[in-house]
Amino acid sequence: MEVLITGGTGYIGSHTVVEFQQAGYDVVVVDNLENSQADVIDHIEKITGTRPHFEIGDIRDKQALNNIFEMYPEIKHVVHFAAYKAVGESVQQPLKYYENNIGGTINLLEILQERHIQNFVFSSSCTVYGEVDKLPVTEDTPVVKAMSPYGNTKKICEEVLYDQSKISNLKVVSLRYFNPVGAHDSGLIGELPVGIPNNLAPFITQTAIGKRQSLTVFGNDYPTPDGTCVRDYIHVVDLAKAHVKAIQFLMHGKYHDHFNVFNIGTGRGNSVLEVIESFEKVSGQKLNYKIGPRREGDVVQIYSACEKATNILGWKAERDLDNCMESAWKWERHLKDLSKS
Ligand code: NAD
Ligand code: UFG
Repeated sequence: MEVLITGGTGYIGSHTVVEFQQAGYDVVVVDNLENSQADVIDHIEKITGTRPHFEIGDIRDKQALNNIFEMYPEIKHVVHFAAYKAVGESVQQPLKYYENNIGGTINLLEILQERHIQNFVFSSSCTVYGEVDKLPVTEDTPVVKAMSPYGNTKKICEEVLYDQSKISNLKVVSLRYFNPVGAHDSGLIGELPVGIPNNLAPFITQTAIGKRQSLTVFGNDYPTPDGTCVRDYIHVVDLAKAHVKAIQFLMHGKYHDHFNVFNIGTGRGNSVLEVIESFEKVSGQKLNYKIGPRREGDVVQIYSACEKATNILGWKAERDLDNCMESAWKWERHLKDLSKS
């Protein structure tokens, strides 16, 4: 029951560590702390009452990874989050993204092959679908040319995993996340964006708390009900639970193929204005925002069909948009309290 979680001190990784621990797994975290902080481990311990094993290390360093597998010979499953994720930065520095996201994954897979470790869950993204004609998006929707080097790393990693699963005992679940938002109910872990956030939810909460002056809504002339873009916002705790279900699915051998993809979303689309409205409702605060021009590269609307995950993994999103915004707001206030102390 020992699971290695790469990138386990990051945003989605930390919530996933909690869910695995609460499901009775022994968790080993490896993270190089490039985009997260070591005290996340303390906060996880506060939530679950158990401290996960934590090794600071880089997945591109094969020796370091091998040492971790030597130290924890019971590791049977790997959940792989460690990667860079900033779309804009990936356009400016594509090699950085290809080297870490693809190079790191290949490194890990080589070690898994040597050590006969079979169960692997990968963090993919709905970005692999690009701009779609038909909604909601099912897993049969064709994967298209990626819109950014970051998106391309997800597409290429899925192909690498598919090819490797064909010639080895590797069994893969690739989870295509829609838009992860929110934070743990405890307010102890959440997203820690570095610098000015690119994503909507942290920009909203940072504006409300006074770190940013005003939110710009990127375009209100799209062909959507209120003119703003539509996304499928999935609560990070629901998302984290999907990883536990994915490992259980691989453990119990109910799969036909060694490579399986699942959409992980709510099945609902919400516009930017609806997200703002939800935030204002749950926080009781008016948000300072203005309408600005469209952001280059934004898809107009996308939301998931998640029946496959429900029918095969036994997973379904349980939380709604209000819950996402409420927990994100609680987390932002927690960060403010921390900065004062
Ligand atoms: P995050 O940056 O909070 O977490 C990633 C963690 O990986 C960080 O703690 C970072 O320090 C670590 N890391 C990066 N490179 C590493 C390396 N070479 N060795 C060891 N550790 C390394 O990001 P997140 O939002 O938690 O995303 C986790 C995964 O989910 C990523 O693969 C990301 O691409 C994917 N994903 C995220 C989103 C999203 O909107 N957050 C959407 C779709 C997919
Ligand atoms: N938005 C604004 N103002 C902002 C930030 C965002 O109006 O300041 C809008 C965007 O235009 C978009 C929506 O809010 O319509 C959501 O934008 P995000 O940046 O939060 O999310 P994206 O859908 O653009 O992208 C996210 C991740 C990517 C990932 C993708 C699919 O950032 O890494 O989801 O998983 F690839």
